[in-house]
Amino acid sequence: MVCLGNICRSPLADGLLLRKIKEQGLDVIVDSAGTANYHIGKAPDHRMIQTAAKHGTSLEFLRARQFTSKDFQNFDHILVMDQSNYHNVAKLARHADDLKKVEYFLHYLYPNQKEAVPDPYYGTLKDFEEVYQLVDKATDALIQKLIHEH
Ligand code: 4NP
Repeated sequence: MVCLGNICRSPLADGLLLRKIKEQGLDVIVDSAGTANYHIGKAPDHRMIQTAAKHGTSLEFLRARQFTSKDFQNFDHILVMDQSNYHNVAKLARHADDLKKVEYFLHYLYPNQKEAVPDPYYGTLKDFEEVYQLVDKATDALIQKLIHEH
């Protein structure tokens, strides 16, 4: 799960997917990272923690890190939140097989539409709630795919 800062969208996707994977008893490793280095080592944004907590998902244990080309080695799927993340991640791809792993996070909800999860960082709590609703639906779609793959 990749966004810009790794303190809003991707930690939510990470924490929510982790919770649903546990609920389903699936054996999948989930992690998140940001393409930027601004917030390395920090907990998620308090507005994202608060919004997720309201819906029963805890995120406070997560810490931001920066995406590196090693992630292509360690993960089968790299899911990006928007087009800018896509390009930043693609720049770090070592070869064509790396690039094949990069997909839009919303692809499982809106196939092939390159739809973005809007960045809520400069927004209000309402924007954080909208991100939650979108990421909740997308993680449900992703869980269905994982169930059918196993
Ligand atoms: P995220 O949101 O990419 O969803 O974690 C942002 C967090 C921080 C910044 C931008 C977006 N920032 O500019 O510091």
